[in-house]
Amino acid sequence: MNELAGKHIVLGLSGGVACYKAAELSRLMIKAGATVQVVMTEAAAQFITPVTMQALTGRAVYGSQWDAREPNNMPHINLSREADAILIAPCSADFIARLVQGRADELLSLLCLARPIDRVPLLLAPAMNREMWAHPATQRNLAQLAKDGARVLGVGNGDQACGETGDGRMLEPNEILQELTAFFAPQVLAGQQVLITAGPTFEAIDPVRGITNRSSGKMGFAIARAAREAGAEVTLVAGPVHLPTPRGVRRIDVQSASEMLAAVESQAPYASVFIATAAVADWRPAQAAAHKIKKDGSGEVPPLAFVENPDILATVAHSDRARSGALFCVGFAAESEDLLAHASAKRLRKGVPMLVGNIGPATFGRDDNALLLVDSQGHRELPQASKRVLAQQLVADIARRLPTSA
Ligand code: C5P
Repeated sequence: MNELAGKHIVLGLSGGVACYKAAELSRLMIKAGATVQVVMTEAAAQFITPVTMQALTGRAVYGSQWDAREPNNMPHINLSREADAILIAPCSADFIARLVQGRADELLSLLCLARPIDRVPLLLAPAMNREMWAHPATQRNLAQLAKDGARVLGVGNGDQACGETGDGRMLEPNEILQELTAFFAPQVLAGQQVLITAGPTFEAIDPVRGITNRSSGKMGFAIARAAREAGAEVTLVAGPVHLPTPRGVRRIDVQSASEMLAAVESQAPYASVFIATAAVADWRPAQAAAHKIKKDGSGEVPPLAFVENPDILATVAHSDRARSGALFCVGFAAESEDLLAHASAKRLRKGVPMLVGNIGPATFGRDDNALLLVDSQGHRELPQASKRVLAQQLVADIARRLPTSA
């Protein structure tokens, strides 16, 4: 999807092993629609060749302020004026120190200094050994750069190239891409607290068996990411799914509907938007056996009695905060027939202002979908698209309905 369409990013590489990740990062940015102009320090060129970066970005790489390809011989001016953002990834401890000092003795520092500070943001993805990261000099420098308006992305924690373990790893390319996308996304949910349920629930029969469903959680996770990128604080209550947590999203993992309800009820008092995408099991075994139920060889099946699960969405939608308009609730519906009629009836039954129907029955696990938005005024369709795009459209639609948005 083209979330960086039309954006021209100067990708600066300073020296560090993490330069190898810049290759993948440049590909991801281009895939997202950006044009990428690579500028490398001499040290960076020791770790990855300009040839590789040129081949991946389709643009000649710059490395010297004396580059005669520029007719006016001022690459630092030309490159910094064209950019929508300058992203330094990896950003070494030395390069951070150079930025603090406002050095201008090589092209990358020079163009960071020469950039129009009010129009061309500077984003840094640091990468260094954990001791270098923790050193007071580095932390002091980063604090100064933040004061000067630079945006610091990360860092990650884990194994380092030197064999040590700790803070200082550069974020993964897809994490940097998420940060960049969020940076450019319209902040339509700024100041909002969004609570989302996602995935299936698992209702235990005994310690090894249970009842669940085929919900993948993809739609809810995509909405969580889009809401976060739109500036909201997001809490995601997730049933058992194997999906990575979107950056900046607070995740609470649960198993059963009862656990999901408890988590939601603990968070709902702080939320301004509640989006229930979870495929909550309608029933659960009346009692989960303490030990594994054994076959006794008689051919008889164990009697299973069920009780109804709490309706999480309806519970929240009937709370005082939701009724007063302080909490905007959105429900989802998966129907196999007559979606509009069922979705409209479900909206009223659940007591929510907005209900979103999955168009087409076989959306579980897929990466795309089509949605039907139903409210008191009528309905409209969001046509077939990736769940990521639909999530962004839905977030924009919800933002327009909130009392604070003008
Ligand atoms: O009643 P039905 O399961 O079709 O309703 C779907 C909507 O209600 C979804 O938004 C789902 O997350 C929510 N729901 C819930 N708790 C339940 C059942 C459904 O929050 N027990």
